[in-house]
Amino acid sequence: MAAPPSIAPETYWVGVNDHETDLFEALWPLPYGVSYNAYLVVDHKVALIDAVKGHFLADHLHRIRQVLPPGKSVDYLIINHMEPDHTGAIQILRSVFPDMTLVGNKKTLEMLEAFYGACPPCRQVGDGDVLDLGAHKLQFSLTPMVHWPETMMTFDATTGVLFSGDAFGGFGTVDQGLFDDEIDRELMHGEMLRYFTNIVARYGKMVLKAVDKLRDVPFRVVAPTHGAVWRKDPSLPVRLYERWSAQETDPTVVVAYGSMYGNTYRLAEAAARALTERGFTPFVHDVARTHASFVIADIWTSKGLILACPTYNTGLFPPMETLLAFLENKLLQHRLLGLITSYAWAGGARKALESFAERMSLEVVEPIVDVKGAGTADDLERCALLAANLAQRLSA
Ligand code: FEO
Repeated sequence: MAAPPSIAPETYWVGVNDHETDLFEALWPLPYGVSYNAYLVVDHKVALIDAVKGHFLADHLHRIRQVLPPGKSVDYLIINHMEPDHTGAIQILRSVFPDMTLVGNKKTLEMLEAFYGACPPCRQVGDGDVLDLGAHKLQFSLTPMVHWPETMMTFDATTGVLFSGDAFGGFGTVDQGLFDDEIDRELMHGEMLRYFTNIVARYGKMVLKAVDKLRDVPFRVVAPTHGAVWRKDPSLPVRLYERWSAQETDPTVVVAYGSMYGNTYRLAEAAARALTERGFTPFVHDVARTHASFVIADIWTSKGLILACPTYNTGLFPPMETLLAFLENKLLQHRLLGLITSYAWAGGARKALESFAERMSLEVVEPIVDVKGAGTADDLERCALLAANLAQRLSA
């Protein structure tokens, strides 16, 4: 196994790359895998900062062994986040390093007991507390709900490394390169956006609080628990997370449609073409065939959203229902919405989409197009009119 890369003096990446898990949280596809980043600070005392998912303990332990000087052990495990993708290996790590003290805040220690049983020795830390390793001083900053209540960040004032937990992380493994200047930028950006929208988006307000708290922290490297380590442009992931958390959008449009026999697709297509003719080439997604993970990511950065959905057993076509449930859970705001619905004998989709718009306080652009049967030329015209009105709003 290659030597663990150093991210700063006496500081090593000892995480793992996961190409085996198909669905993160058993929900979100991982076409480019995911990394569980952990870091070892080797000083008079040795601190492991976060751990890995249990299945990957062997590689994690091997990397720790590669950089641990002879005669030294791991003195502390700093737990920035309790979710099992970072703590699943704890029990075995404790048996390998029996004198290792687990370090976390009050909520961390409560969760440790709930997940892994009583686990002394533990050390409780609070906001601003410092753990002295020798030359390295680790300062803790509580950042609750980014992504769980116990989440915190650890800043090494000696090296300027901010161990940020889930914040500023992304999907995708880091075996092609660990640092932001080594990885394909476009791919990294897309997988970060998908990670943010899929995992963290609901907690945008808490991310903004965390970002505020970082204003005076002189970090030079950002080392999250997933994805790239940022050394060339460490402020970029912070700016991106800030923008996404504030739900700042581009003047772009997503057309998300479901269609059982192609009729609703033709309505969506008419709207999409009208948008393109006006300079707003949309992202077009078939919600039955493109996983919501990707659709949500495009929606998150777009001001406009056209939903085209047939009625299914008096309600919404189920894949659309799933997408909307995710958007509602993630507290989508400030979008311009276009609604296109269809039915065979009794409506239902229109009412359900209008109810979604009302619950989410999203502005609906006129006209709402509700079509009985396959749709006429007039119906296609009304879809184009809806698109034209949306384009006009985006141009304003
Ligand atoms: Fe990577 Fe919220 O755990």
